[in-house]
Amino acid sequence: MLSAQQFSQNDLFGLFELADRIRKIARTEDGLDFLRSILSHKRAVLYFAQPSTRTYLSFNNACQILGIQTSDMRSAGYSSEVKGESLEDTLETMHSYTDMIIMRHVEENLAEKAAWMFNNSDKPIPVVNAGSGPHEHPTQALLDAYTLCRAYKGRLKNKTIAVIGDLRRGRAVRSLIYLLGNFEGIKFLFLSPEELKIPEDIRAFLYKNRIEFEESESLEKYVKRADVFYYTRIQDEYDKQHESKTINYSRLYLKAEYLPQMKENAIILHPLPRRKEIPPEVDKDQRAWYWKQEVNGLWMRAALIAHIFKEDGYILNYK
Ligand code: CP
Repeated sequence: MLSAQQFSQNDLFGLFELADRIRKIARTEDGLDFLRSILSHKRAVLYFAQPSTRTYLSFNNACQILGIQTSDMRSAGYSSEVKGESLEDTLETMHSYTDMIIMRHVEENLAEKAAWMFNNSDKPIPVVNAGSGPHEHPTQALLDAYTLCRAYKGRLKNKTIAVIGDLRRGRAVRSLIYLLGNFEGIKFLFLSPEELKIPEDIRAFLYKNRIEFEESESLEKYVKRADVFYYTRIQDEYDKQHESKTINYSRLYLKAEYLPQMKENAIILHPLPRRKEIPPEVDKDQRAWYWKQEVNGLWMRAALIAHIFKEDGYILNYK
């Protein structure tokens, strides 16, 4: 599971249904026992060489819900990479001990490289990209789309999505665009400071797939128009020389005074962690969906893992 481009609309609705089913089954003790029995013969390694709170925790808990035993490498600093071991040898070692690797790494193509290595071995195992540098975060996009599906009761066509913040280096943004491109009539409003505009490859994807978009540095004129406000923080961990310090993002922050102007059924999303782009007083607004979005990540990741191991039918047939 390497890129958000792997999913069709049918795949997505299948995963949404599976996630809904798993969260419902998990409400009872018998259901939890059933879920825990499904993959109790499997082990997974969570290799997180970049910081994470929710992706790590939700994957770890999703594995546990399905009975998978996990072990983790949470920092290259604790791996034998510090003793000079190559990344390939590190991957080979993890591959020896596990049935699945869930990985977050700054190197853009490491998950692909791992998948290629393992597919050419005598023990092919799944690799899940849990964030690849500034490039992709496909499981974030899955839970974002799942959240939209729940908010709009499955009606995802013709939505106007304002994507706000660091659009140049936000991996969640690229994956979101790839995934939502599956839905008819989706229109994007890209709002960012000039320095953080969408990169050329995303622009090319939008043109190629005839997905409508507008770009602006001003939020005010879009407040009434957007159905979804997808905020992101500045990804300054990818700065070369602290250049983000000179970028003024504050004029795009969501101010509480905008709330009365927004559509009644608009929803506000954020992959989190946030900084000041959404003030905590917005959390109380019924349109603030980012904490629900985070919870949805657990169920979507459980659904994805169950799907990877082809357990969809078994779960959907649970009485
Ligand atoms: N959204 C997200 O990837 O959050 P974490 O970095 O906390 O995992």
